[in-house]
Amino acid sequence: MAYISNETINEIRNKTDIVDVVSKYVNLTKKGKNYIGVCPFHDDHSPSMSVSPEKQIYTCFSCGATGNVFTFVADFEKISFVQAVSLLGERVGINISGNIKADTKKDDYFDIYEYASKFYQNSLFTSLGKNAIAYLEGRNIDKETIKKFGIGLSIQKVSLTEYLKNKKYSLEKLIDVGLTNENGNDIFINRIMFPIYDLSGNPVAFSGRIYNTKDTSKYINSKETDKFKKGKILYNYHIAKEHLKKNDTIIIMEGQMDVIRASTVGINNCIATMGTALTKDHKNIIKNMADNIILCFDGDKAGEKATVAAIELLEDTGQNIKVVRLPNNMDPDEYIIKEGKDAFLNQIKFATNLVDYKIELLKQNRDLTDIKDISSYVNSVLKELSSEKDDIVVELNLKKIADNFNIDYDVLKNKYQSLKNNKKILPKEVKPKKVYDKYSMAENRLIYYMLKDEKVINMVENRVGYFPTQSIRELSNEIIYYFHKFGIVPVADFISFIADREELLKTLKDILAMDISENFQIEEIEDYIFVINEYHKEMKIAKLNKEIKEEKDPLKQAKLASEIMKLRGGIRNDIRN
Ligand code: GTP
Ligand code: MN
Repeated sequence: MAYISNETINEIRNKTDIVDVVSKYVNLTKKGKNYIGVCPFHDDHSPSMSVSPEKQIYTCFSCGATGNVFTFVADFEKISFVQAVSLLGERVGINISGNIKADTKKDDYFDIYEYASKFYQNSLFTSLGKNAIAYLEGRNIDKETIKKFGIGLSIQKVSLTEYLKNKKYSLEKLIDVGLTNENGNDIFINRIMFPIYDLSGNPVAFSGRIYNTKDTSKYINSKETDKFKKGKILYNYHIAKEHLKKNDTIIIMEGQMDVIRASTVGINNCIATMGTALTKDHKNIIKNMADNIILCFDGDKAGEKATVAAIELLEDTGQNIKVVRLPNNMDPDEYIIKEGKDAFLNQIKFATNLVDYKIELLKQNRDLTDIKDISSYVNSVLKELSSEKDDIVVELNLKKIADNFNIDYDVLKNKYQSLKNNKKILPKEVKPKKVYDKYSMAENRLIYYMLKDEKVINMVENRVGYFPTQSIRELSNEIIYYFHKFGIVPVADFISFIADREELLKTLKDILAMDISENFQIEEIEDYIFVINEYHKEMKIAKLNKEIKEEKDPLKQAKLASEIMKLRGGIRNDIRN
């Protein structure tokens, strides 16, 4: 690595446990020596990713994503390898930000937002912030909560832009990050400022709420940038994530005020979509957070729509989904204020399970005293139940319908059964395995076993002429180099060593993700080396054959043919040996 020494990278990696770090992003369960979880790098539904504490690497059996703790964080957070090293370095008290300036042109973005956030928080507690404080107090937001969520205030008379310019940030930069407009003025004026954090807890945006006027948008957000994409960020993720270890449930709400209010009654495992519909990117984040989801959107019609849409999106993640529908169009914030903490805790505790909620929804727009409506309702319920996995849930619901509508239980059961049988049991999609020719197979395996056993490194170094594929050749050279320099080649450290060489890293990741047996026999290695060395003869022969065809002079042709014979003999001799 160009700017951070390999020793530093390895030191950070040695002080960092991959299981600790990955479990911040993905729910992991111990299985044998390893941990498994749902892969965040593809649309995974059942756990396909394995994390090895022993090797300190992760591998997805389905999409092939693999690497060490740095590549995991880099790929998840969509940051560079060096930034991931820096981030994880901070975690273990090794600060390398000074070293990486030259390498990454360390982005001022986070610093600017950090300054801006502090600036706004400070403004709130000045004499110009009195009305805003009064507003927050009126909403029962105390000082502790203000601090916890970094709530601040933008004031017309006190320019954030000037403040940041004095910190030597250029006007272009401030416009670029979304805090200043083209005229050089602050974008946020007289709004209560809620910092929005990225998944790692860096402030990357603001949502500003009006408090002393009504004639403009209630909230405005700072603009979308490469660091702030509303569809990829969930309000309060970084705090909620920390609370999931105790409580394997994530509560999804609409607004930041809802999340903030919930925290004032001790519920900290909430995230908010900030008024947008849940996206596929949100889904990929949420599916890794917890085994249980509670959808707790606003009690109004829009909240119901959002609930139905969220169910459609999240239904196939394998998580256990429950729904809370608050009465009288209230949002969680209003409900907690009006009905109190215990009432809300009960709403959460007795959240409706998904089937019950869907069955309830089916009642809408149907007159359940009308025979035709009853029939269509019951049929829809049976259809819904036919995809329910839990037999007990099915049984209870069948009984309930039989009682409620006075329908013979057996009739219902038969209909349910036939619907269930009709559901085609689709075979699980099997990914076609990539077919490797014998040469690539030998190359891949040699690299794989070089990283397992130094004997193989020696054999390759001394016996393989040269690998046909360039990236394999380079990889093998790097392994040999690393081995001579450090005496051993731990995979997780070797990944760091080549991390700035995209092509090499990709080749290595592909090989690590292959389904190759951990154990090998020396004879096998001999065979692979033989195959590789044979390749060059085959290539030479092919080349000579081509030359023969192009050659007009019969004498020269004969000479080429005898060269081929010699080579072929060589191959046969090798086989006999
Ligand atoms: P309060 O009125 O402060 O309690 O907010 P709320 O959470 O009840 O607001 P609402 O339910 O109307 O909207 C839900 C979320 O959508 C808010 O928390 C905001 O993040 C977002 N939002 C609401 N209004 C606007 C708006 O006018 N513009 C933008 N960009 N976002 C908004
Ligand atoms: Mn509200």
